[in-house]
Amino acid sequence: MIVKKTEGIFCMSTKKQVLQMLEVNKNVPYSGQTIADQLGISRTSVWKAIRALREEGYQIESSTNSGYRLSSFSDVLNSESISQDLEEPLSIMIYEQVDSTNAEAKRKLDEIKEGDFLILADEQTSGRGRLGRSFHSPTKTGLYMSLVLQEIPQSVDPTLVTTAAAVAVCQAIEELTDVKPQIKWVNDIFVNGQKICGILTEGNLSLETQTIQSIILGIGVNITLDKENIPVELIKKIGGLLEGQETQVSRNQLASAIINRYYQIYEKIETREFLKEYRKRCFVLGKEITFTKNKEKYSGIAEAVDDQGGLVVRLNSNQKMVLSYGEISIRMKEGNR
Ligand code: BTN
Repeated sequence: MIVKKTEGIFCMSTKKQVLQMLEVNKNVPYSGQTIADQLGISRTSVWKAIRALREEGYQIESSTNSGYRLSSFSDVLNSESISQDLEEPLSIMIYEQVDSTNAEAKRKLDEIKEGDFLILADEQTSGRGRLGRSFHSPTKTGLYMSLVLQEIPQSVDPTLVTTAAAVAVCQAIEELTDVKPQIKWVNDIFVNGQKICGILTEGNLSLETQTIQSIILGIGVNITLDKENIPVELIKKIGGLLEGQETQVSRNQLASAIINRYYQIYEKIETREFLKEYRKRCFVLGKEITFTKNKEKYSGIAEAVDDQGGLVVRLNSNQKMVLSYGEISIRMKEGNR
């Protein structure tokens, strides 16, 4: 079932206008009268809008002396809130529940033929991972989003689009928290030895022209973890970005920071400058790794990341092999990671 919440292009209701005022200066109190005067509505309408917003989950504090204030801990996915922090405008669609934001993005591409757009969901019932795996996406504990890029310059190497996204996610996390994320080739983001984010890129190829028509960049970040409900096979592998952290970051803030960082890199993707940072953050370099290719097992040392984002491996046989996709494990004394 797809449950739609909000759309980025709309005729603004009173509720949305009130929210926007509070959003612009989170933590700053506005009296009911100030809101009413600025929006040209009655104080009763303000009060009704506040009540409706609280019912939706917004944490709005009120005091008789100072007025209404949106708490910075308020974490409701909201297109205005994301748009406000974006450097470039983007059409945004938000869902309470969807099978997969990537799947929904693909469906939307049948309607939206021009321009980039962003799909977010509180929960995914069939979140998709790489290599045919699923992505655990419980409600409101993670950021699940798909950025759709259309009109891609043909000079852009599609594999670099994913590599660039890994760097953008790390930069956004560092901008908002004290966490120092690292990258496990190809595009898993790790914090304290645990995966906190995965990226799944899907491209739509025109069979006629053999060109890439659009790219769906699916990003899933575990922000907190509901430890009781994690599938047993994931317990040791995944972590939450804000686990053990005092910093509070809303999903809206994280989404807009990732998108901003992404476009900054994407604009000059052909320079491949971002690969320097990718290499610095890529903790597999210099490590002994194992992987399977064409059903055969290999091991060797991960030596470098080449200019296409491929992993250069010196095999135990001393041969060099370049991996352009797939999954590697790091050999450790106590087992593989
Ligand atoms: C992986 O780690 O294997 C990739 C996970 C990608 C998950 C994200 S969540 C948003 C988007 N929608 C999906 O169904 N998958 C991606």
